[in-house]
Amino acid sequence: GLATGGKVTWKAPSNIALVKYWGKKANQIPANPSISFMLDACATTTTLSFERKKTAGEEFSFDFYFEGKPKESFKAKISTFFGRVESYLPFLKQYHFVIETSNSFPHSSGIASSASGMAALALCLLSIEKEADPAMSEDFFIRKASFLARLGSGSACRSIEGDVIQWGETPTIPESSDLYGIKYPYPVHPNFKNFHDTILLVHKGQKQVSSSVGHDLMHGHPFAEKRFQQAHGNLERLKAIFSDGNLDAFIEIVESEALTLHAMMMTSQPYFMLMQPNTLEIINKIWEYRKETGRHVCFTLDAGANVHVLYPESEKKPVYQFICESLLQHCENGHHICDRIGFGAKKL
Ligand code: PMV
Repeated sequence: GLATGGKVTWKAPSNIALVKYWGKKANQIPANPSISFMLDACATTTTLSFERKKTAGEEFSFDFYFEGKPKESFKAKISTFFGRVESYLPFLKQYHFVIETSNSFPHSSGIASSASGMAALALCLLSIEKEADPAMSEDFFIRKASFLARLGSGSACRSIEGDVIQWGETPTIPESSDLYGIKYPYPVHPNFKNFHDTILLVHKGQKQVSSSVGHDLMHGHPFAEKRFQQAHGNLERLKAIFSDGNLDAFIEIVESEALTLHAMMMTSQPYFMLMQPNTLEIINKIWEYRKETGRHVCFTLDAGANVHVLYPESEKKPVYQFICESLLQHCENGHHICDRIGFGAKKL
C-alpha cells in the first residue's frame, strides 16, 4: 500500500529542441512532432517530502521552496499541474507535500527551467506510486513519468530519459506518441556523440512572452498549417542525417527550425521580437566563422534571446576558442554555460 510518509529526490536535465514544438491542442497535445538533445549541466534537483494527512482534504496541500526560500508565486503553477495529473496519481490529496527545488543554472539567467523542473517533480510524484507497486516495470515508469511531465510543460516530457528524444506522433516512427517522449528508436551516428551546446546568456531576466501565450498564438496563425507540415518534413530529413552523420545537413535544419520559431512569433497577432541585437551579432559571427573555416558549428534558439551554440566533439577545441574570442563579448558579463548532450534524469 501507499507509504505513510517519505522523501525522494530526482535531478532532471533540461533539453534543447532541434525540431521545435510550437503550437498545441487541448491537454498539452503538440501540434507537430519535435526532437531534442538531452542536456547535462543544466538541470533541476527536486526533493519531495510527503506525509499522509489524517483525512484527505478537498484541496492539494503543499509547501514550495525554490533555492531554499518559500516561493508563493510558483504555487499556482504547481496547483494547476496537480489538477491535471490527479486522475493519474489519485493519491495526491491524501498527502501534504514539501517541494524543495533548485537549479544548476543561475536564477533568472533567461534559461527556462520549466522542462527540467516539471520533469523532476513528475518523477518524484510517480516514485510514490512506484514504491507502493514494486511490480511496476522500469519502462512503464519512464513512460508514465514523461506523460505526467508533459502535463506540466510540454517540452518536459523530453527531459526524462535518453540522449536524443522524440515527442509527437510521426507516421514513420511507429513507437512515437503525442502523450510522451521516447528515446529516438534508430541508431544515431557517432558524429553526434558528446555533442556540445554552449549556451550564451545574451539577455538575462527576460520574460517577454510565456511559452503558453506563444503556443496559443499559433491558433489562427496564418502560417500555422504550413509550419506544422514543415516540422514533419524536417523530422524526416533528420532521420537520414542521424543515420549518415551529415553535419552540413544537420546545421541547415537546426538553424532553419530556430529561425522559423522566431518567424512564427514575428508574424503572429500580437507579434513579438525575442531576439536582441547581440543575438544577431552572434548569429552573423557564427555564419562568418563557418564560411571561413568550414567547421560544423551552428546555433539554435528557444523562445528568447539566448543562443545555443552546437558543435561536435571532434571540433571542440577550435570552436570553443572562437566562442571565447568572438562571441562572449556579446553576452551579459561574458556569461555562458558549457553544456553537452546528456542521458537523462537520475534518482539521487
Ligand atoms: O514546454 P513549453 O510549453 O515551455 O514549450 C517549449 C517551446 C520551445 O522551447 C520554444 C521549443 C521546444 O520544443 O522546446
